[in-house]
Amino acid sequence: MADFLTLGIESSCDETSAAVVANGRKLLSNVISSSLELHKAYGGVVPEIASRKHLEFIVPVIDSALKEAGTSLERINAIGVTFGPGLVGGLLVGLMAAKGLAYAAGKPLVGVHHLEGHISANFLESPDLEPPFMTLVASGGHSHIVLVEDYGKYKILGRTRDDAAGEAYDKVSRALGLGYPGGPAIDKAAKSGDPGYIAFPRTRFKDSYDFSFSGIKTAVLNHLNSLKMAEKDIPVNDICASFQEAVCGVLCDNTFRAARDTGMKTVVLAGGVAANSKLRELFEQTASKRGMRLEKPSRILCTDNGAMIAAAAYYAYKKGRISDMTLNAEATYSLDDM
Ligand code: KG4
Ligand code: ZN
Repeated sequence: MADFLTLGIESSCDETSAAVVANGRKLLSNVISSSLELHKAYGGVVPEIASRKHLEFIVPVIDSALKEAGTSLERINAIGVTFGPGLVGGLLVGLMAAKGLAYAAGKPLVGVHHLEGHISANFLESPDLEPPFMTLVASGGHSHIVLVEDYGKYKILGRTRDDAAGEAYDKVSRALGLGYPGGPAIDKAAKSGDPGYIAFPRTRFKDSYDFSFSGIKTAVLNHLNSLKMAEKDIPVNDICASFQEAVCGVLCDNTFRAARDTGMKTVVLAGGVAANSKLRELFEQTASKRGMRLEKPSRILCTDNGAMIAAAAYYAYKKGRISDMTLNAEATYSLDDM
């Protein structure tokens, strides 16, 4: 039987990306064009600049994705697109492109939730991964513990009550003068730091898998201020290593606790923060200690990309989830509501 090809389009933040995936599992192309460099001077993503760049990139990126996959729009079986959550201006650009192509070529349109995309990145590299499994989705905007009961069926068991993990990385990085995005910068600095330099607070809630990262962020800021007041040197690498130790520790503890309590034997990492080396190491160690299976996407598939959207769209389509032309951009939308 001929392969079922999905074209995936992602434009929810600062990456304009398109990809072609065969049968929800095989990556044929994944083209990513990022406006990240333009945002660095502002210390974070500027929605207006991101939208303009999406407009510029969207058509060439889709063209390249089709070309690199050695296919054409005629051969595509369904078009998946991120409808939310994210920056509305960016989402609209991807949505308009996807709707236009779907309408012109007579292809089914599938609206994909951004976090469902992140989770589905794992299907691309782990051919035998099947639900159910426990997932940690940690990105710049979200930190969720999600029980994936079946394809397209999600139950959020824990979430952050304030900052997302990636957001905490970005804020602490800014305070340390390491720039934006903070995750990769802190990850790198922490490699030559002492994780035992200071025990930053690890917030836990009774009878809950929820997170809170605003306390640790404040603790880092207070520590920095006290060093500055005392005119002491700032051990940036040690602070990064200690911050990372605490954040990753809580992410790992809560995820494995949720897996244990629900009887899950497989744990999956997803989202931009899943690119973090400490987090990957900690999850690997914990899984192996408990005799559990761990899956994590390669780093390029952790951060935003079209391939994860194409993979998610395949399974959504197979379940009959087809969108019509009224599909709209949603700045906020819970995964629970899919
Ligand atoms: O998933 P993503 O690309 O975009 C969103 O959906 O938000 O995630 C971006 C976030 C940023 O906060 C960034 O600092 C963080 O992921 N990030 C990392 C690493 N690489 C990216 N955080 C920790 N360690 C990393 N290596
Ligand atoms: Zn993302």
